[in-house]
Amino acid sequence: MEVITQTSILKEQVQTFRCNGQQIGFVPTMGALHEGHLQLLRASKKENDITICSIFVNPTQFNNPDDYKLYPRTLEQDTALLERVGCDLLFAPNAEEVYPQQSLLQFSFGKLEAVMEGEHRPGHFNGVATVVSKLFHIVQPHKAYFGQKDLQQVAIIRQLVYGLSFDLQLVCYPTVREESGLAMSSRNKRLTAQQREQAAHLYKSLQLAQELLRKQPVFVIKDEVKAYLHQVEGINLEYFEIADALTLQPVEHLEPGSGKEVALCMAAHVGEVRLIDNLLVNL
Ligand code: PAF
Repeated sequence: MEVITQTSILKEQVQTFRCNGQQIGFVPTMGALHEGHLQLLRASKKENDITICSIFVNPTQFNNPDDYKLYPRTLEQDTALLERVGCDLLFAPNAEEVYPQQSLLQFSFGKLEAVMEGEHRPGHFNGVATVVSKLFHIVQPHKAYFGQKDLQQVAIIRQLVYGLSFDLQLVCYPTVREESGLAMSSRNKRLTAQQREQAAHLYKSLQLAQELLRKQPVFVIKDEVKAYLHQVEGINLEYFEIADALTLQPVEHLEPGSGKEVALCMAAHVGEVRLIDNLLVNL
């Protein structure tokens, strides 16, 4: 696998692939790779001639400086994993390479960013949209792969692709879970063994909400989820929301049998580590 750290060199390489008529699949990441990333890479390998992965811990999407500082960085291990899945090229730039000047761009995604992650992490989606736009321009992929765990991120990037007419196909893959149900995430690397057990209750609470969906009104389900997580030591729920799966706007009334899809979404702190998860349910 070729490892490139300079944008200008990557652009030349991409030009060569494109001139050869090769289709490019792209998996953007912030590293600390896990099985969820590897599934995206395997899918890209199957569906494209060339697979490019990027590893860049993007400073502009962190609203909390400690979260940025403590984000796991495991480049050596990641490189070995990428070799193992047969990734063709790793783009691993540093911050000066991606941001030679401070970006003054401001994206606005309207209501879509006024809820959940957008509401609780001011500036987060502006940073994501900025870096993903840059990466799409540099890598020029035919297909780009993202995980459903970051459901709102996928919706934001979908708007970015429509809004800026990026000529690529977005592919979203279901969340990969550990045996306990815990959604795989790079941040899990910061959890102790005990915290991992506690964190598995996040998924259990989503399953509880799913079970109640056809029987109880929204406010009761929210109370039940809060009560369930309140009794788990070490978990501090930031939000639990029942949202329309397409618009991600909060749902006030459930209509069982309507065939509508809802997203059960949450963020919680397990110790110092902030985790998110979601479940899509057809009513
Ligand atoms: O999902 C992530 O890992 C990041 O938000 C992304 C899409 C690589 C942008 O930095």
